[in-house]
Amino acid sequence: MVKVLMVCLGNICRSPLAEGILRSKVDQSNIFVDSAGTGGWHIGELPDARSIEIAKQNQINISDQRCRKFKVNDFEDFDFIYVMDRSNLSDVLLLAKTETHRNKVKMILNVKEGERAMEVPDPYYGGERGFEKVFILLDEACEHIAKSLSYEK
Ligand code: 4NP
Repeated sequence: MVKVLMVCLGNICRSPLAEGILRSKVDQSNIFVDSAGTGGWHIGELPDARSIEIAKQNQINISDQRCRKFKVNDFEDFDFIYVMDRSNLSDVLLLAKTETHRNKVKMILNVKEGERAMEVPDPYYGGERGFEKVFILLDEACEHIAKSLSYEK
């Protein structure tokens, strides 16, 4: 079983979408996908209603997800840890104790050649359009991740 963790700040907007999108593209008997946030404000809550809605419009249900905080043990439990922006990257890397842990962490939009240092913008304080943009960016990134994992549906 390959284990992939999606990480953002709140674990209610971007990483729940990334989790749902990647799940929809892989064989879930071979690949386990989860998500977490570096901040703890929304623990136990459902994803943001706007993330649930944009996922639903794309035939993906993320309403069974519940927010949790990223924990140091996630470095042991997961093979790949994808973060959304540079701030997530530094927050997660601060908790890494070994080079092996550090090497598991990648910016999710860097999976695509030539798009280094691109960030998934935080849509929390914006409108619906922000969530559409986030969905498109994550859909493309997850397509690449699914291919790289070679367990496409
Ligand atoms: P996310 O967005 O990191 O994509 O889940 C945010 C959600 C909530 C907050 C910040 C970002 N917040 O400050 O509560």
